[in-house]
Amino acid sequence: MDYQGLLHDAMTAGRAVSGRGRVADYIPALAGADPAAFGMALVTVDGEFHGVGEVDRPFSVQSVSKVFTLALALAHGGDHVWRGVGREPSGNPFNSLVQLENERGIPRNPFINAGALVVTDRLLGLTGDAAGTVLDFLRAESGNPFLATEPATAASEAEHGHRNAALAHFIASHGNLENEVEAVLEHYYAHCAIEASCRDLARAGLFLAQHGMRAGGGRLLSRSDAKRVNAVMLTCGTYDAAGEFAYRVGLPGKSGVGGGVLAVMPGRGTICAWSPGLDPAGNSVAAIAALDAFTTASGLSVF
Ligand code: DON
Repeated sequence: MDYQGLLHDAMTAGRAVSGRGRVADYIPALAGADPAAFGMALVTVDGEFHGVGEVDRPFSVQSVSKVFTLALALAHGGDHVWRGVGREPSGNPFNSLVQLENERGIPRNPFINAGALVVTDRLLGLTGDAAGTVLDFLRAESGNPFLATEPATAASEAEHGHRNAALAHFIASHGNLENEVEAVLEHYYAHCAIEASCRDLARAGLFLAQHGMRAGGGRLLSRSDAKRVNAVMLTCGTYDAAGEFAYRVGLPGKSGVGGGVLAVMPGRGTICAWSPGLDPAGNSVAAIAALDAFTTASGLSVF
């Protein structure tokens, strides 16, 4: 497989549409991102690496972190997380409040903001340090000890985080948080504000392509749990555009409003594409176009 050639063509397809996206400005610290930036990295289970564009430029991982919080909660014995969060696509925006009221404080899935707050809460209960657990894992798997939370981004989110605060308080009112709202929000903002590059995230996600096995050997998740996390990524990882993402890309994927998208080719490898311009659902226009071009040209989807 000519991965390098495929990535090059995918980047061309992504860059062609990057001007159609808008950077996230509801978090002021992200508003200055360069909409023309683009990077794409591919790591195989055999240890091959390929990259195009700004493959080592750090960006705010935002909701891509949610796949790691879920995996780490399950890895720490947090099966009880499934009592507090569902596994169905929401069909609503990632920060929606309405569904939560109808469903009595049980978020639809672990990747919408409400669900991620519940998962962060359980990871905090299991480890005593949810954001630190995510950061340590990302550092270990990526081999990059310099990964860190960008404090200015976390502070900007906290300052403008009225919707997340409302979600967390509403969930707490239904008795579905174990920890104090303020602590849950702090850890949630801290893991969303981690900065990492396409190379870092592609490496860190490799356990999802290796049926739960970590990069250096050793198991993070059981084979079943790795299957389950991939399944929830496919059905819920790109919010109310998950159907469109499955149709176009055909891989489990998780997006973030920093413009990153991590996609998994089970048994084969991971791809992370990044470009900050977002579509109305909050997913990177150019990253998704590039992943679409990659799987269409290579045939490497799960279907
Ligand atoms: O809570 C928020 O709104 C952000 N920290 C994360 C949202 C996000 O990345 C949605 N993804 N596309």
